[in-house]
Amino acid sequence: MMDKKVCVITGANSGIGKAAAIRIAQQGYQVIIACRSQERAEVALQEIKKKSDSDSIELMIVDLSLQESIQKLAQSFREKHDTLDVLIHNAAIFDITQKQVQYTSEGVESIWATNHLGPVLLTDLLLDPLKNSDQGRVITIASKGLIAKPGLKVNLNDPEFRKKRFRVTNAYYQSKRAQVIYTYWLAEKLSDTSITANCIRVPAVKVDINKYPNLSPMMKRLYSLKSRSALSPEEMAETYTYLATSDEVSNLSGKYFNENRKQVKSSRYTYQLENINQVMNLTMRYLKKR
Ligand SMILES: NC(=O)c1ccc[n+]([C@@H]2O[C@H](COP(=O)([O-])OP(=O)(O)OC[C@H]3O[C@@H](n4cnc5c(N)ncnc54)[C@H](OP(=O)(O)O)[C@@H]3O)[C@@H](O)[C@H]2O)c1
Repeated sequence: MMDKKVCVITGANSGIGKAAAIRIAQQGYQVIIACRSQERAEVALQEIKKKSDSDSIELMIVDLSLQESIQKLAQSFREKHDTLDVLIHNAAIFDITQKQVQYTSEGVESIWATNHLGPVLLTDLLLDPLKNSDQGRVITIASKGLIAKPGLKVNLNDPEFRKKRFRVTNAYYQSKRAQVIYTYWLAEKLSDTSITANCIRVPAVKVDINKYPNLSPMMKRLYSLKSRSALSPEEMAETYTYLATSDEVSNLSGKYFNENRKQVKSSRYTYQLENINQVMNLTMRYLKKR
């Protein structure tokens, strides 16, 4: 029997990540869900196995806000697997009730650490197994909401809100714009390999509002109104699955996709080489500190 292709998906204990884990497992892939909470992930693991009717689902614990934890995840992965075919950087944080800036135990602003630095480090540590695949794929996740913030740049002098007033939306969109830029940089860096790097722009997708106990009653009403027009995680997972498994995209790299599997353009700022270099130089300074 041929070995199954291997897909790692982060934050797959809920939402789009969980739905994508089920779909990709149904396509015959071995799926590794990389999650931070053992408890939540164990529950999701059983559900994913059941719904996909597959036993080839594995759980690995990681806190993507911490570089030490990412190092451990990569090490455990490499001990068990030589090859990685698909890496989906799905996990992210965005709690609109967050009022105060938070720093991780490694001293980095938590949104910047989780949504941007974590994915960059994880890809880097898994490059060898990705290279061992016939055609490795790295998939990053951005947000359609970026369209409403065309002027928002990565703040090269203060990405962690040490001087400027913290606003969770700015921190989140900064991290997602950085992921778009990172995707283009990575695609270019890997252009002489068979590994591709593409980014998906996620529109409004239903989330479990129980995750946000501090939401005011008004915000709860707003959320439920908004979620009427939102996609289901299962619908959104189709685009993840397409980019992860379809032959149609095996030669595409450095592209930005919408929820309908169509290529779209990101903001002009994200394509400019000077900006790409500046953002990635900044990023690398965080990863070299360790
Ligand atoms: N839903 C939307 O409207 C929307 C819009 C634009 C973009 N997106 C993007 O779509 C992706 C999936 O979001 P979703 O809607 O499915 O939301 P979700 O259900 O909240 O999923 C996010 C996942 O990331 C995990 N995560 C957060 N911090 C982590 C950490 N430090 N280490 C490991 N895992 C961590 C969460 O785990 P816990 O359960 O432990 O918290 C959760 O499983 C995200 O990248 C998000 O930014 C979503």
